[in-house]
Amino acid sequence: MVNIGLLGFGTVGQGIVDILNDKSDKVLLKDLYIKKILVRRLEKQRQVKVSKDKLTLNPQEIIEDKEIDIIVEVTGDVDLGYKLIKKALKNKKHVVTANKALVSKHFEELTQLAEENHVYFLYEASVAGGVPILKSLKDQIKLNSISKIKGILNGTCNYILTRMTEDGLDYSQALKEAQDLGYAEADPTSDVKGIDTLRKLRILSTMALGASIREEDIICHGIDRLSALDIKLLKERNMVIKLMGETVEVDGGYKAIVQPKALRDDSYFAMISDAYNAVSIEGNFSGLLNFYGPGAGMHPTGNAVLTDLIDCVANSQDKRSPLRDRKLDNRNKDIQGRYYIRVSNWKEDRYKLEGLVDEKVFENEEELAFITKELKLSGILNILKEVKNYAIVNIEY
Ligand SMILES: NC(=O)c1ccc[n+]([C@@H]2O[C@H](COP(=O)([O-])OP(=O)(O)OC[C@H]3O[C@@H](n4cnc5c(N)ncnc54)[C@H](OP(=O)(O)O)[C@@H]3O)[C@@H](O)[C@H]2O)c1
Repeated sequence: MVNIGLLGFGTVGQGIVDILNDKSDKVLLKDLYIKKILVRRLEKQRQVKVSKDKLTLNPQEIIEDKEIDIIVEVTGDVDLGYKLIKKALKNKKHVVTANKALVSKHFEELTQLAEENHVYFLYEASVAGGVPILKSLKDQIKLNSISKIKGILNGTCNYILTRMTEDGLDYSQALKEAQDLGYAEADPTSDVKGIDTLRKLRILSTMALGASIREEDIICHGIDRLSALDIKLLKERNMVIKLMGETVEVDGGYKAIVQPKALRDDSYFAMISDAYNAVSIEGNFSGLLNFYGPGAGMHPTGNAVLTDLIDCVANSQDKRSPLRDRKLDNRNKDIQGRYYIRVSNWKEDRYKLEGLVDEKVFENEEELAFITKELKLSGILNILKEVKNYAIVNIEY
């Protein structure tokens, strides 16, 4: 029997227990026993029932319990999670987490600490929820040099953009719908500003390239400035907008960016709709590999956590940190492309914009939308920092 300490019993925590209850005929799952569960509120009504004596408010009861072999952290609390995971790894317990904010913030330290203590630190569910991308990536980097990684990594943003594209909703209406359906948090900032995508790209890129690519090394633009007009104007040109994270290795360096991209409407990523996620990786031998599936949800995410748990029990992954001794230069200043830009109250800013406009797409008293020539993004942003209200979308041809 393998004893598990579960930190958190919300959407993901309950998904884990529900699958364990349901699939207890599976041989490996049969050996897993949830000994204690950390929560904030003992009396809260929960969808999945467990006996009351399993619940605790005291994390030490779990972390210091010598009979507990594996800690599963699904609280969403970065500071508490970090403290407890560190302690657990030092106590030679395996750790599985779904907490992308935590993994992104402390990747180097925690992967190193796990390696030093010869235990697992696994975090499959932290990137693209139910999509088994990290384990597949770990397999691919044993053989391949990965030159490119790109994906739709945030289900909330993809849902909002899908509703705007398919139903003509404005941004705020689509966001409200996402909140009503439980996709978006009450405070959706980290989703719509691209921060959640950036964290996932940081984890994926660091693993794929074997070099530290930290949050501050990635340019980040969200979807919160986009309007129904942007979607409509690009749709008329057979393009759809998606929030994408993308890292490419370029001789001795890398470029990494999260941004809205206008894609041809018949391309692979254009067809990823609603709250689904998709990731593609390009290896020198593997070629282009695509991964697609549910980016969140009780069972898909619980399932991803449990595949990590099984790997801990079966000892079937490498315990070494995926970081290698690589140092790569940040080449974000070289990022260039064609961009769709819309400026509100544009007449105030018309002289500043003159050098950017290659092709006008729309113009009225209020709004000016245009497409630029192939230009360096840093140069465009330098001009736009003087402009009050604008939206920018990279155009992929
Ligand atoms: N939801 C998804 O589909 C999904 C997908 C991928 C990754 N994730 C990640 O998985 C993690 C968990 O997400 P979730 O959606 O399951 O969150 P959630 O529904 O908010 O659940 C959090 C759980 O942790 C407990 N908790 C939170 N802070 C605590 C604290 N300081 N002390 C003790 N207990 C605490 C809560 O206790 P109470 O129940 O008593 O309040 C609750 O049971 C997050 O890092 C999230 O980013 C989630």
